[in-house]
Order: sequence, then structure tokens, then C-alpha cells
Amino acid sequence: MWAMPVVMSWLTLSRVFSLTKTRSVKININAASLCIARSLKTSSSHQAELQNTPSLTGEPIQIKESKFKTFSIYRWNPDKPTEKPKLQQYKVDLNACGPMVLDALIKIKNEQDATLTFRRSCREGICGSCAMNINGVNTLACLCRIDVSGSDTKIYPLPHMYVVKDLVPDLTHFYKQYKSIEPYLKKKSPPKEGDRENLQTIADRKKLDGLYECILCACCSTSCPSYWWNADEYLGPAVLLQAYRWMVDSRDDYGHERREALQNPFSVYRCHTIMNCTRTCPKGLNPGRAIAMIKRDMALE
Ligand code: SF4
Ligand code: SF4
Ligand code: FES
Repeated sequence: MWAMPVVMSWLTLSRVFSLTKTRSVKININAASLCIARSLKTSSSHQAELQNTPSLTGEPIQIKESKFKTFSIYRWNPDKPTEKPKLQQYKVDLNACGPMVLDALIKIKNEQDATLTFRRSCREGICGSCAMNINGVNTLACLCRIDVSGSDTKIYPLPHMYVVKDLVPDLTHFYKQYKSIEPYLKKKSPPKEGDRENLQTIADRKKLDGLYECILCACCSTSCPSYWWNADEYLGPAVLLQAYRWMVDSRDDYGHERREALQNPFSVYRCHTIMNCTRTCPKGLNPGRAIAMIKRDMALE
């Protein structure tokens, strides 16, 4: 029953295409024909034909010309350990791609090379999994706009980390360090009967602003020279910002013990206030300040 009108619409559309080869015409086409036109895979010849096809309003549909951009991406395959890491080039049509670097990576993986490996989940700066080094800056690929200038975009995994594959760094040690600061509420006395919540004042809650937003993407820690050289013992800016988040939480009873645990030459004092961490944080946080506050509180105790 449905086949007939669709075939007729298709015939109408074909006629439109043949007409538009020579001149632009104003013609009423029904919605079904338009759907077919939009779902057509636009090969270059089709693109040329579609250029002058009238839209519902009678205006010609504008199809943008291809605009290619080269992405040079770090590749390393653990299944071929004797092969050295290399940069591999991919060309992407920016007019057929979303605006962010993550859009380009997904397009490359879907259309050109399914072996390209990277992490991503939320695509909106919440999960922290797409952290990588793009044109020399540690950032989130989903929040990083593609640079539309002519030069290549170079993409590496987060620096100074072991690589699992391609753009995937090994974060095992980073998470172990995070676990070491006991990132959860600790109380000295059990809740009173009937207490279901740990309340805090609005002013105390405000102290967590600029800290609770951290998504543990590791961009800051992997941009910190002190962390590069002493990652085995220095906790690094991300984990220290998280440690401070629990130290200033009015509901937590272990602030002093948390600071005591950092009283050694490495855990916190390897920070030399270079501030790369704050400069690179894609969430606009200030881990350098959090570390300075920990040092101040430790000195005052
Ligand atoms: S402080 Fe910023 S850069 Fe560092 S882990 Fe948190 S969100 Fe990422
Ligand atoms: S301020 Fe401290 S944590 Fe941040 S980059 Fe510098 S040394 Fe690293
Ligand atoms: S995909 Fe979640 S932060 Fe980028």
C-alpha cells in the first residue's frame, strides 16, 4: 500500500534531478520526496545535483564542499611489541563531522580505521575518560574544538604514563594513589538514632565549590613535571585536590589524620608551585591552590 506513493515520489524526484542538471527550478515536492533526498548518500555527483535542488521553501539546498583536515594520531599496538610507536595520519572532512576532536576520532574509528583505540563515554566533559594530549595540551577531546586552521592536529596519549594501546594510558597507579587518600566521608562517632543525613551549613557547603567538580581525568597530574619524575611517591595535583576536598568537608572528622598521612618529603612537598596543573585543567579548577592550602594547614597544625 505504501510502496506506490514512494515510488511515485521517487520518480518525481528523479525528474527534479534531471531538470536541475541544466537550471534551477522552483517546484513543489512533497515531504516524502524530501526525506528520500535527505537520506541519499551524497556521492560527489549526487552532491552536485543536490546543490540546486529546491528545499520546501523553494530555496536551493546548500551542500558545503568538502574541507579536509589531517589528524596525526599516536599509534602503538601491544600485540606487536617489536614495532615502534608511530604517528598515523587520517584525513577528515570537517563539513561532515562534529566540531570537537572527539567527533573526529569517532568518525575515523567508524569510517576509516576500527583499530584506533581511545576511551570515551559521556562526550560532555563529565566522565573524564577522553583525556589526551591534543596539540601539546592535556585536555578532554570532547570539550576541545577542532582547530580549523590548515595545520595538522597532533594527538598523543596523556604524557609520562604507560600506554595500554594507542591513546589509552594506564591509570592503575593513579587510581591506587586516589584510593590511598580514602576518598569518602569518615566519622568518629556512629550516627545518632534517627539521623539519616549529615547536614552542613550553606557556608560549609560552599567550601567544596571548585573541588567537588573534579572528574579525575588526570590531565593535571600528567602535566606536572614533579609528577613525571616522582609519580611513585608524589601524589600529584588531582589526588591532592581530592584529598583537600575531604579535609575541608565539615562533615568529615578526620582532617587532622588526613594531613598527618601526608607528612613526609614526597606526598605533597614535591609540588614546587609550577602551576602547570591549574593551567591545563579542562574543568577550570585550581589544584595548585588546593595543594597550597594543604601545605598551609599542615604548617599551622
Ligand atoms: S583537577 Fe581538573 S585536570 Fe585535574 S583531575 Fe580534576 S578535573 Fe582533571
Ligand atoms: S603546582 Fe604543583 S602540582 Fe601543579 S604542576 Fe606545579 S608542581 Fe605540579
Ligand atoms: S567523553 Fe566523558 S569527558 Fe570526554
